[in-house]
Amino acid sequence: MEFGVSKMANIVFYELEPWEKAHVKSCLAGHKLAFIEGPMDEKNAAQASGADVLGVFIYSKVGAAQLAKMPKLKMIATFSTGFDHIDLAACSKRGIRVANVPSYGSHTVAEHTLALMLALSKKIVQSVERTRQGNFSLEGLRTFDLSDKTLGLIGFGKIGSHVAKTAKALGMHVRVYDPYADANLMELLTCKSVSLEQLLKEADIISLHTPLTPQTKYIINKDTIAKMKRGVILVNTARGGLIDNKALVDAVLSGHIGGAGLDVLEEERAIKEERQLVSSEFSGSFDLRTVVANQILYNKPNVIITPHNAFNSQEALRRIVDTSLENIDGFLGGKMVNVVNGKDLGAGVGKKGGKRKK
Ligand code: NAI
Repeated sequence: MEFGVSKMANIVFYELEPWEKAHVKSCLAGHKLAFIEGPMDEKNAAQASGADVLGVFIYSKVGAAQLAKMPKLKMIATFSTGFDHIDLAACSKRGIRVANVPSYGSHTVAEHTLALMLALSKKIVQSVERTRQGNFSLEGLRTFDLSDKTLGLIGFGKIGSHVAKTAKALGMHVRVYDPYADANLMELLTCKSVSLEQLLKEADIISLHTPLTPQTKYIINKDTIAKMKRGVILVNTARGGLIDNKALVDAVLSGHIGGAGLDVLEEERAIKEERQLVSSEFSGSFDLRTVVANQILYNKPNVIITPHNAFNSQEALRRIVDTSLENIDGFLGGKMVNVVNGKDLGAGVGKKGGKRKK
């Protein structure tokens, strides 16, 4: 079968959630579709033996042994950003193209970050808790404005730069520490690039947007906290391991940190990417609850913890599926997008458009 000129492709999906299946079916009508429960493994790979195209998530391990059971396979769409569950070298050897979802929810996470900042500055949680008890007193509910305050962003990638854009609209001054930041974008958004020291010294609110790496682990620790303004607000929607939790607890208890908005916690079970948290294969939610329950921070009124929910908008999850479908559609139409093993495979695969129903 030659792609791009074929009438119908045989597409097999593993580990899709029910709502995803329904959407995939409606978009790929006209192709032969099969949905297999749970992740692909060596045993059930044979069920995809006739597949031209494969759709998987990160719990499916696609190695040489599995590929050998799919002799016609030409393309794999992973419904994830990461692709280390797929043996790229084995795929390239067979001429199988692999495509991922490079980005799906930058502004979704940025909105959550802003929601945490606003909730802290406007004391939304305490106010709502109080009125729910029929108490309409304003005592202790004095808030502060974000306008004219200085926001320090550690990390200015997809999410950090979205946060900057929104913060600017609120009248905030934005300082950025990111040695690899896009200088043009920073200039366009009138943000100022500073050293970490300067950011810690100047910021009224600090928000973290870097990946967790050996360089960024515990970037917020006893020493860096000591360099921050007293009463600073700390927001973390990136990864829990960026903050030394003990140092954070001490600083909240001493008042050096005046408030914290945390969507991620240090002890949280390691996750590769957020869609795992809504996958039926994931069983980490109880861990998280235990972690949260054990935290001294949990009951502090100036600390807001959300359960790693920043990514979880209906639009963001839908975008993961849509991008994966676009990847398949592009492949069938001979114009591949988001290929992660493209360089070693040469040019397109066909001429005519795919059959995806928009
Ligand atoms: P990105 O890769 O677009 O941006 C990361 C930025 O961090 C880059 O500009 C990079 O230059 C910078 N960076 C790397 N090392 C640094 C260092 N040592 N010091 C300062 N800056 C450094 O990533 P994106 O998409 O903006 O994600 C940021 C974080 O948000 C990641 O940790 C990601 O896992 C997390 N995340 C959290 C979600 C949630 O639901 N809470 C959802 C999606 C992402």
